[in-house]
Amino acid sequence: MSSEPATAASPRIPRHLAVIMDGNGRWAQRRRRPRVIGHRAGARAVNVCIDFCLERGIEALTLFAFSSENWGRPEDEVGALMKLFLNALEREVDELDRRGVRVRFIGERERFGEAIRLQMTHAESRTQANTRLHLTIAASYGGRWDIAQAARSLAVDVAAGRLSPDAIDEAAIAQRVCLADLPAPDLFIRTGGDTRISNFLLWQLAYTELWFTDLLWPELDAATLQRALDDYAGRERRFGLTGAQIAAPTTNETPE
Ligand code: FPP
Repeated sequence: MSSEPATAASPRIPRHLAVIMDGNGRWAQRRRRPRVIGHRAGARAVNVCIDFCLERGIEALTLFAFSSENWGRPEDEVGALMKLFLNALEREVDELDRRGVRVRFIGERERFGEAIRLQMTHAESRTQANTRLHLTIAASYGGRWDIAQAARSLAVDVAAGRLSPDAIDEAAIAQRVCLADLPAPDLFIRTGGDTRISNFLLWQLAYTELWFTDLLWPELDAATLQRALDDYAGRERRFGLTGAQIAAPTTNETPE
């Protein structure tokens, strides 16, 4: 456990937090309520998470709100989630802007209806100058889709003669996957008890520290997030190097 004060300058505080918000449906079912009630409660927990990041000076928060695969859920649940996203966007954007949060979306935006797409664009342009917290909502997002769209964009440049195939290396792919302008997530949190990544940020999570809790997403509170941060603070991140190399970084630099 870290005894250092919680400041963004401390390496013990993650710069970028990535979260799978799981367990809304079970939270509602345990109360004998429809699943959509769980998603509504989940939207409130999103605010808990944003507040926590702002208080701790975490620079970037990426939330998995809707996966490429979630389109396959029952039609009424997808419809209810769309309404919820639209309402949340309409309701929250002014407050997020006031608090210095920059909002962006990653994923296949064209799969959403026009009203949601317009709200997404509005939220992004309204908050684009903010720098206190970079909030990214992954919606209709899949890690495999992300890598495929990066590969396609490289292929387009090769076909047009702007890029040599020899120039395609890890750095070239890293520049074209989503979140390329942010540091890679330092800490990944998943609620809901499952210990998997579920097609979230497959490229970006290569060296991210993973933390799982059985708590359901609507139950999220600051104490739980603090437990995750305390656990993170006690870990040694070696990035494929040895512990000795990490302890003496003058002899070998730690890769980004
Ligand atoms: C996973 O729980 C959650 C989702 C598929 C939707 C996430 C949506 C929210 C948290 C609400 C609003 C978000 C924003 C950004 C405004 P699940 O339904 O898979 O739960 P289960 O595993 O218990 O069935």
